[in-house]
Amino acid sequence: MISLFKKFEEEGILGINRRIGEYILPYNPREYYPLVDDKWKTAELARQFHVPMPYHYGVVDTFGGIRNTRELIQDRPGFVVKPANGGMGNGILVIVRESEAANGSIQYHKVDDKILSEKELQHHISGILSGLYSLDGNSDSCVLQERLECHTFFREISFRGIPDIRVIVFLGYPVMAMLRLPTKESGGRANLHQGALGVGVDLRTGKLTHAICNDKIIHIHPDTKQELSGRILPHWETILEMASRCYDMSGLGYLGVDIVLDESRGPLLLEMNARPGLGIQIANRMGLRDRLQLVERIKNSADGPATRVHRMFQEL
Ligand SMILES: Nc1ncnc2c1ncn2[C@@H]1O[C@H](COP(=O)(O)OP(=O)(O)O)[C@@H](O)[C@H]1O
Ligand SMILES: [Mg+2]
Repeated sequence: MISLFKKFEEEGILGINRRIGEYILPYNPREYYPLVDDKWKTAELARQFHVPMPYHYGVVDTFGGIRNTRELIQDRPGFVVKPANGGMGNGILVIVRESEAANGSIQYHKVDDKILSEKELQHHISGILSGLYSLDGNSDSCVLQERLECHTFFREISFRGIPDIRVIVFLGYPVMAMLRLPTKESGGRANLHQGALGVGVDLRTGKLTHAICNDKIIHIHPDTKQELSGRILPHWETILEMASRCYDMSGLGYLGVDIVLDESRGPLLLEMNARPGLGIQIANRMGLRDRLQLVERIKNSADGPATRVHRMFQEL
């Protein structure tokens, strides 16, 4: 066990204690956490900074308000129900359409073809409000969001659901990226904890490299059977610039930015994370430490997202 840890350290793989001790605590002021931990607050902040996000239909923040949910989602081409303060895909429902049940009541179809009655949907929202999925265990609110359609680039390689691109940003410089692809197991969500795939991305070019699923190295998508490496993500520079802008927006020095691709609107911010996981190093088969130290050396040499991204490109 000890030798494995030592090997990781030698390869520049950042461990959990270092991540927290050397990067998260010193670079992430606690008072900024609520801005990224609450998805509704993030949405407001993104509006101020003109960072595009999926459209929000509304928020339910009281039990009394649950019965008005129908007005917010009626006649929408699908929608997503999310705990504002959730994480790891927990409590997220992706509804693709509604229909009328045999008894005339409304029912909702999830991305995995399962059906939910209006009552069941309300019950789920009530669970979100009680804090069932909230990161801190406190009561929460429920965000109702536009359901995104899968971008053409991903149609062949992703199993239903929406992939997202995680970029680790340190002091405004993008340092590592990973594509997360939903699988049958992950139920349309791109969360590694739910069984989604993590695919390393070459930071300079946006080219896909290696993939992991449940911590094992794989080469083809287990459901779509498609080869992943070698494909190049579209809008790559815009994605990195948007991730870099999230530093100016959030004030967090060590940040995980999750970006989704929309067919017509291009890259959209999905969420930010003040304590990004370390699995990205395994997907990239590369440690974060060297890149973080590189940024510490060049941190004052560029200003603004586009310049920082180009400065990073020069160093890679
Ligand atoms: N608006 C949406 N449309 C379709 N799928 C979505 C949408 N929002 C989230 N998802 C899916 O659910 C996953 C988790 O959503 P996210 O907002 O990142 O919440 P969490 O904090 O739980 O990770 C995403 O990676 C994506 O696959
Ligand atoms: Mg997420």
